[in-house]
Amino acid sequence: MSDLILDAAEGVIVPVYLLREADLDAALAELGDQGRGLAAVQDFKGKAGQILLVPDGRGTTERVLFGLGQGRASAVRALAAKLPRGTYEIVRCPDDISPDDAALAFALGSYRFDRYKKKPDDRPRLLARTANVAAVRVMAHACALARDMINTPPNDMGPLQIETIAREIAEQHGAGITVITGEGLLEANYPAVHAVGRAAAPGREPRMIELTWGRESDPLVAIIGKGVVFDTGGLDIKPSAGMRLMKKDMGGAAHALALARMVMAAGLPVRLLVLAPTVENAISGDAMRPGDVIDSRKGLTIEVGNTDAEGRLILADALTRAAEFSPDLTIDMATLTGAARVALGPQLPPFMTDDEGLAAALSAAAEAVEDPLWRLPLWKGYVEALDSDVADLKNDPDGWAQAGAVTAGLFLQRFAPEGAWVHLDIFAWNPRAKPGVPSGGEVMAIRALFRLLQDRYA
Ligand code: BES
Ligand code: MN
Ligand code: ZN
Repeated sequence: MSDLILDAAEGVIVPVYLLREADLDAALAELGDQGRGLAAVQDFKGKAGQILLVPDGRGTTERVLFGLGQGRASAVRALAAKLPRGTYEIVRCPDDISPDDAALAFALGSYRFDRYKKKPDDRPRLLARTANVAAVRVMAHACALARDMINTPPNDMGPLQIETIAREIAEQHGAGITVITGEGLLEANYPAVHAVGRAAAPGREPRMIELTWGRESDPLVAIIGKGVVFDTGGLDIKPSAGMRLMKKDMGGAAHALALARMVMAAGLPVRLLVLAPTVENAISGDAMRPGDVIDSRKGLTIEVGNTDAEGRLILADALTRAAEFSPDLTIDMATLTGAARVALGPQLPPFMTDDEGLAAALSAAAEAVEDPLWRLPLWKGYVEALDSDVADLKNDPDGWAQAGAVTAGLFLQRFAPEGAWVHLDIFAWNPRAKPGVPSGGEVMAIRALFRLLQDRYA
């Protein structure tokens, strides 16, 4: 991935002119009669995703015109998907699109998941002399890592593989890492993580992955990600259609590691605590049962009304752990509810926080980097839907409350640290392919969160 964006190149470099529809006449005026004729014949108008390869009369490409429509940098994603193999350089670009943003969009649009395909890498490359190539590569790399982790099938992306990736990241950036596994979780007081993950096969035991980085004197940011490597639903088993995509249920952990990597590579002046409770929600004679009452690290008892509401259980212990560090800011990311998709669809992740300043800052960051997010309320009227007859609370909210994404957020809030906390219910999947946006594992919210962290701390 990283070597698709170059800071130097030899050989043929084809110039690319990015233009909006309003810039069409100026771009056409620079072409010869042949080029203008070609544009007319192909009805090239500079609409988003339109491409015109202008030949030079010797059988090679003299320049490429690429339409952005009315779009911003993210419209450059499709360029990567439409160019033939070769090396290109963006020589003309609207002023409001920075070289870095254009190069990052190109890199994100170049992503493909080819681990299991014998196919040569024939993707086009982008020479980006005026961009900060190192910084662009960091962002692109982190996003590709998260997408690769999500796309990798659950037989090859179990708890151990996630641990291994976390260890590699820790080593690369001089972070500390501890991993508590299997029965050790009971001793270390992570009873909910153990309860959810204990039914998994040998070698796929549950674990709490904890990474720490940075200077003691810097403000602490806790980043938590749901790492369910596969969600069968447990004894409340999911129907086939609902289970089909559940390899992506570790998307929160992948996002947390990717965001942490951005922060560490950029050397932001923060201290990081990264927690990835990682389990398989499996079925065996030892699986937790509907009706079980389990303990949590916080000491609150939880009635397991539904074994398929497992994410909030493992996050409860992780949030309690984070609270022990009194973070300045806590972020959790999770593929937590189907209800979030009913509310906002697959492309618009909801975030929830009671911190008005944080909400405004995150919305602004999301807008700035074209990484869309939408706020949902932690509406206190629904708290009572979590009341249990036998325990302190239950994991399956009463039906009357209906707003499943909100009640899941309210459940987490019972465990969240004091102070600034934001919960993101991500889909981590793109169901519909378009140029530059392949279907499959998708990374969302972390570019916005990284911008938020830059604004807040750098
Ligand atoms: N991982 C799922 C949520 C999910 C499902 C995310 C589909 C994206 C797509 C989660 O563990 C789950 O099963 N949640 C249940 C909760 C319910 C039982 C209270 C849900 O959303 O139906
Ligand atoms: Mn589930
Ligand atoms: Zn789940």
